Amino acid sequence: MSLVTLKELLPKAKQNHYAVGQFNINSFQWVEAILRAAERQQSPVILASTDRIVDYLGGVNVIAATTKKMIEEMNITVPVVLHLDHGFTVERCTAAIDAGYSSVMYDGSSLPLPENIQRTREVVAYAKAHHVSVEAEIGSVGGTEDGVTSGIQYADPNECYQLVAATRVDALAAALGSVHGPYQGEPNLAFDLMKEISDNLMDVPFALHGGSGIPDYQIIKAIRYGHAKINVNTECNQAWAQTIRTLLTEKPDLYSPPDILGPGMAAIEQVVTRKIQLFGSAHKAG
Ligand code: 13P
Repeated sequence: MSLVTLKELLPKAKQNHYAVGQFNINSFQWVEAILRAAERQQSPVILASTDRIVDYLGGVNVIAATTKKMIEEMNITVPVVLHLDHGFTVERCTAAIDAGYSSVMYDGSSLPLPENIQRTREVVAYAKAHHVSVEAEIGSVGGTEDGVTSGIQYADPNECYQLVAATRVDALAAALGSVHGPYQGEPNLAFDLMKEISDNLMDVPFALHGGSGIPDYQIIKAIRYGHAKINVNTECNQAWAQTIRTLLTEKPDLYSPPDILGPGMAAIEQVVTRKIQLFGSAHKAG
């Protein structure tokens, strides 16, 4: 199956009160594990490469070509989105679109609103001409992602409405207290604000960043309040690292990569499977 866009998945998910998981690519073994879990669960899935590790993975052309070939070779039948996560420049977004990504996020959240709107509009114009979907961000997701740390800045509802009206993006990441990376204590999502924004932007699916470590009951509430895309990276990485750490501690003579990395890949698949079931997207591939 060829790649699909967020537009083909998220409005349907929002209408039917489930969310599609975005799982980040940290090597092509992540792609294999995530695709396998999605296919077994018959769930649509979003594979994402974040801007900061695009070069580490070999660049947007390598990521797009390899991912598409893997989908074909693995006989994947479920809908798959290939998404650029946190694209920090218009140029990175257009390069991903040219390489064959089916979706991009332009993250202008650190800019003053008029500039964020202006650049998001540029990305949307290019993306629409190529049948690619766009996600935008307002406010600031806190925490640490790929070595970069920032504080939480809650999204302003009026800014959310202005951005959506001016850009017509396909998904909105409104920062509402979630953080990238591990949480210190219980996450404190601003559900009142979430409900207010959701009630006013009924037709726009929300993307929840920092989906790792949020208790299940809060995830379910966030889906009820309009989140149709939930991003998970840290929990997959932690499961992978913990599995390999334990294995190498128990068997210090082990050196064969398949014997070490195979169990790591299985650990990622387990996390993705559990998240798909929690988000309610299993058996929603049709
Ligand atoms: P976590 O690493 O906290 O799961 O967040 C992932 C994310 O939001 C990617 O954009």
